[in-house]
Amino acid sequence: MTDLPLEELRAAVGAEHVLVDADLTASYETDWTGRFTGRAGCVVRPRDTEQVAAVLRACDRAGVPVVVQGGNTGLVGGGVPAGGEVLLSLTRLDELGEIDVAAGQVTAGAGVTLAALQAHARAAGLDFGVDLAARDSATLGGLVATNAGGIRVLRYGSMRAQLLGAEAVLADGSVVSRMAGLLKDGTGYDLVSLLAGSEGTLGVVTRVRLRLVPRATARCVALLALESTQAAVDLLPGLRERLPSLSGAELVYADGIALVRKHSGLPAPFEQDFPAYLLLECADRTDPTDALVEAVGEADGLLDARIASDPAGRRALWAYREQHTEAISAEGVPVKLDVSVPLRALPGLVDRLGPAIAAVAPTARSVVFGHVNEGNLHVNVLGAGDLGEDVTEAVLRLVAELSGSISSEHGVGRAKAAWLSLSRSPTEIAAMRAIKTALDPRGTLNPGVLLLAR
Ligand code: MLT
Ligand code: ZN
Repeated sequence: MTDLPLEELRAAVGAEHVLVDADLTASYETDWTGRFTGRAGCVVRPRDTEQVAAVLRACDRAGVPVVVQGGNTGLVGGGVPAGGEVLLSLTRLDELGEIDVAAGQVTAGAGVTLAALQAHARAAGLDFGVDLAARDSATLGGLVATNAGGIRVLRYGSMRAQLLGAEAVLADGSVVSRMAGLLKDGTGYDLVSLLAGSEGTLGVVTRVRLRLVPRATARCVALLALESTQAAVDLLPGLRERLPSLSGAELVYADGIALVRKHSGLPAPFEQDFPAYLLLECADRTDPTDALVEAVGEADGLLDARIASDPAGRRALWAYREQHTEAISAEGVPVKLDVSVPLRALPGLVDRLGPAIAAVAPTARSVVFGHVNEGNLHVNVLGAGDLGEDVTEAVLRLVAELSGSISSEHGVGRAKAAWLSLSRSPTEIAAMRAIKTALDPRGTLNPGVLLLAR
């Protein structure tokens, strides 16, 4: 690989923000799950858009690839080095602008964490439409880059739907800035929207202009015990219709709850175990409890239910869902496959997953859970050993057969780049490559992520 332009990088961001010692770079080089790891040539920590531009100019000129990283909560190997790249860490771009109450918008740096943005918006009587369990570490730049979804997509859509503007540095160091937050803008290609889900391959997002939503001041959570995935899917149309305040619908299963209990010590949610559980949250400015109790009372196929409106009770019910990720990782390094299928195909996918995985990795164990309204299932496979790629292939092929997507909300990363053609046609992939080449002709940004390196 070409020599690193270390002197230029030091001049760009200050010598103390160019890390080369292994003990200083280590925490940037392995992903959260421990599955993806590689040595960075160095880690560079710019403070603002101008410094990011100087770093990219230097790397692009020197022919050195750059990997972009936010809070390092990614799950598809898209933000850690493959080997030798400059790792561009954006956590210092953490400036939060004043809330624009008139517009219901805010400007924030790419390195601001989701939790910090939420607290900022709530202090002004507003809220942010995206929420997810990694909120304390996940940063806005990464959430945009992966078009993250999470637990409120049902109500507010995913990250792209919140994104009204962005500032981004292209591979050659030039800056695109569309930060006015216009709600109507018909002037051609929407580059801001294109950045959402581009996984750092087209430009480095440094600042974003975000839509805020009214702050719900009352919440109610229900945990419903059900016979099957089909029972959960069957309930959704009625729940959506009866409960305009419905903001989340999450699906978990008996084995996932048992695993969470094993690692957290939480008590059993009900006196007996049930096959499937649907966790619902309603959020509003007036108390949604009566409406949720009534809707639950009339729900077909209910085996048992718990409802909580007080903060501690709500947190206790959410814990069974939100602690899945940590409980799974406590068992070993999982192969994490995040997929979505049309809702009507979800029960079939769940039924066929076990046999499909067992056919290629008989001793592997899978734990699944998901965001049911979007047909989004998180398939976590433990004990796959050397068969991780075979498991990935089997699951993603099954998903494609059901007209699904091989990446619902985590991105494609390095983990699934080889399977992109299962979800995208040759024409679409050619168009994506043409865009990539136009914006990053030397292939500097995140090579091997999303699109396989050629
Ligand atoms: C979640 O829904 O909790 C996240 O997508 C993380 C995960 O899939 O483990
Ligand atoms: Zn998720």
